[in-house]
Amino acid sequence: MATIISVHSFRGGTGKSNTTANIAALLAAQGYRVGVVDTDIQSPGIHVIFGLDEEQIGRALNDYIWGECEIEEAVYDVTPMLGAPVSGQVFLIPASVKAGEIARVLQESYDPGMLNDGIQRAVEAFDLDVLLIDTHPGLNEETLLSIAVSDVLLVILRPDQQDYQGTGVTVDVARKLGVPRLLILVNKVPQSYDSEQVRHRVEEAYEAEVVAVLPHSDDLMALASAGIFVLRYPDHSLTTLYRQMTARLMA
Ligand SMILES: Nc1ncnc2c1ncn2[C@@H]1O[C@H](COP(=O)(O)OP(=O)(O)OP(=O)(O)O)[C@@H](O)[C@H]1O
Ligand SMILES: [Mg+2]
Repeated sequence: MATIISVHSFRGGTGKSNTTANIAALLAAQGYRVGVVDTDIQSPGIHVIFGLDEEQIGRALNDYIWGECEIEEAVYDVTPMLGAPVSGQVFLIPASVKAGEIARVLQESYDPGMLNDGIQRAVEAFDLDVLLIDTHPGLNEETLLSIAVSDVLLVILRPDQQDYQGTGVTVDVARKLGVPRLLILVNKVPQSYDSEQVRHRVEEAYEAEVVAVLPHSDDLMALASAGIFVLRYPDHSLTTLYRQMTARLMA
């Protein structure tokens, strides 16, 4: 049985895609077979971090949910593009970056069962140990479907008043949907903050485990989604924190 982990935040730009890609790479480095699904159909982007060019994307998640291809045809082995050799593998199911295909998902409804079926099928066909779902911010159809099929929901927030309120909404929904494990990541924390204090306050506010408090990092910002940070900078202090977080996620 694969572990399904959704990565979500109520607001945008919290670091979902970079966090998902780095967790995927760390797990692959430990020998796991990892799947990554981009359910951010409205504004896909995680393929960029994995170095998959737009022109290399033939079939995407969009084609599958419209019944135009099998899920296997929308799976890309991005292991050779990770930037360093790993003993496991990473398989990406990207969403389309074509304007027409994005608009179609927004305008027409599709069978919601397709997403769940596709995920289960991909897990079996590629013998995955872990499947990570990178979501669109806020609550939409794909996000609710993703949360409902997950074993673990990783909710990301920044230490920001707007994020605090929005995270409350996501946490409530996750509890109503009965997610087995709800974990919180506080990201982009100013270096001047006391991270233990941040952890304590967030744990009290949401009555959920904070899996990591990650600092705002100029080095990650400077990489600008052009690669996988933990493989590019294996000895960086942020990489150590990503490793600890990944271990807690899988515990
Ligand atoms: N800890 C961090 N320190 C500094 N920059 C970060 C950190 N985490 C992520 N970033 C940067 O924040 C930006 C947004 O990251 P990312 O695209 O991963 O967020 P997202 O939540 O997926 O966004 P969206 O909601 O648009 O999908 C990127 O430029 C990324 O490099
Ligand atoms: Mg994203």
